[in-house]
Amino acid sequence: MNIVQVDYDGLIPNNVGLGEDVRVKHALEKWHPGYINWWNDMGPEGFQESLVYLRTAISVDPKGWAKFDYVRMPEYRWGVLLAPQHEGRKIPFGMHKGEDAWQEVPGEYRAMLRRLVVIQGDTEPASVEQQRYLGKTAPSLYDMRNLFQVNVEEGRHLWAMVYLLQKYFGTDGREEAEALLQRRSGDPDTPRMLGAFNEKTPDWLSFFMFTYFTDRDGKMQLEALAQSGFDPLSRTCRFMLTEEAHHMFVGETGITRIIQRTCEAMKEAGISDPNEIEKVRKLGVIDLPTIQKKANMHFSLTLDLFGNEISTNAANAFHSGLKGRYREDRLKDDHQLEGGTYPVLRLIDGKIQNEDSPALSALNMRLRDDYVVDCNVGVGRWNKMIAEHGIPFEIKLPHVAFHRHIGEFTNIKADVSGNVLSDAEWAKRRGEFLPSDGDKDFIESLMQPQMEPGKFASWIAPPRVGIDNKPGDFEYVKIADA
Ligand SMILES: [Fe+2]
Ligand SMILES: [Fe+2]
Repeated sequence: MNIVQVDYDGLIPNNVGLGEDVRVKHALEKWHPGYINWWNDMGPEGFQESLVYLRTAISVDPKGWAKFDYVRMPEYRWGVLLAPQHEGRKIPFGMHKGEDAWQEVPGEYRAMLRRLVVIQGDTEPASVEQQRYLGKTAPSLYDMRNLFQVNVEEGRHLWAMVYLLQKYFGTDGREEAEALLQRRSGDPDTPRMLGAFNEKTPDWLSFFMFTYFTDRDGKMQLEALAQSGFDPLSRTCRFMLTEEAHHMFVGETGITRIIQRTCEAMKEAGISDPNEIEKVRKLGVIDLPTIQKKANMHFSLTLDLFGNEISTNAANAFHSGLKGRYREDRLKDDHQLEGGTYPVLRLIDGKIQNEDSPALSALNMRLRDDYVVDCNVGVGRWNKMIAEHGIPFEIKLPHVAFHRHIGEFTNIKADVSGNVLSDAEWAKRRGEFLPSDGDKDFIESLMQPQMEPGKFASWIAPPRVGIDNKPGDFEYVKIADA
């Protein structure tokens, strides 16, 4: 493995030899102004002139890949960075298993591969669009900085996918790269491609839930694409995963800090019953049942991103060696799955039950199962925090049949335990499971900005350590007067 130095001299920092690749360099330089326009129009509103203490990727060496400094976001150095090439890498799964990994797009898989890149690419700017108003209600400068860090890195992930399109997919690739700047999250005429990326992220609890649950779908998809037999895609995704880890850290610790603050406030006020919602809310913190409802919503919306449980597309992508399983390289089987089966949760005769299905067709289901396991790790930590405060409450992920819009359970209504409900029962009990208008209004009422260094809004505890080991009162964002 050899680490190629990052070239920082040109317009586009890169470690892909853009200096010698005139065609691609020109294509990206042509795309650049449109990207900046998009960023200025759709990126964080009201803070484009502010100096933000951001990390920028300057290397792909795992030991020291980023540097921290104050940057105006439109001047952020969005670069094209691929993880180091492994000499002699082989295609790790599917019908081509053991052949040399592809350095160019295999002609027969061109359309399928382009679609995978475009779908991944589309999610990156979408989340920036969804989060663009949140800066104005940041609960602290620390949190505001984390939001902007996630935003600029999602911008870089768009660059990563656009590089692949421009470099490997010719005219179609160029058109797709343009289209990625044209679609808009939530726009009825030109929406983003996937449902969860057209939802609103109206408040900071939603933001933390989004980074916890939805960025984690991103992690699963990137892990699966990092296994790809198409080596440039694999290397791109491997490097994106180093950035993605921070996004999930923001989500997990954000929710932990909200729960911590709620528990502390309840304890101070002598409230031990988590269902004393009004009393808890009077303390200026978010009651645990409302946090549970938000988790129910974001988890269920994110499950839809895994697609149909039984999917020919997923089977083809694996069989052709384009998209592997979660951490394929750590799995011990034949990596071809031609004869195997996998248990898939299905709706059979009105009942939710497991059915053994061909393993190849069940790959979406499998990735979703791995995702649920991964989600539960942080949930366990949240519950530990609640238990330490002696409050009898546990956050639980809802059943996978709950509140679904894609796949097996689209046409039924289920409660959070997976019991099938009639439409009438669902209508009556919906507010038990998902945030009501009243819940939303309450959360919105808490979204008052706190922009003094070292201060935090009433509903969230300070972090245990600062970013880049900075002290508690560090000025993470120097806000410019608008
Ligand atoms: Fe991303
Ligand atoms: Fe992310």
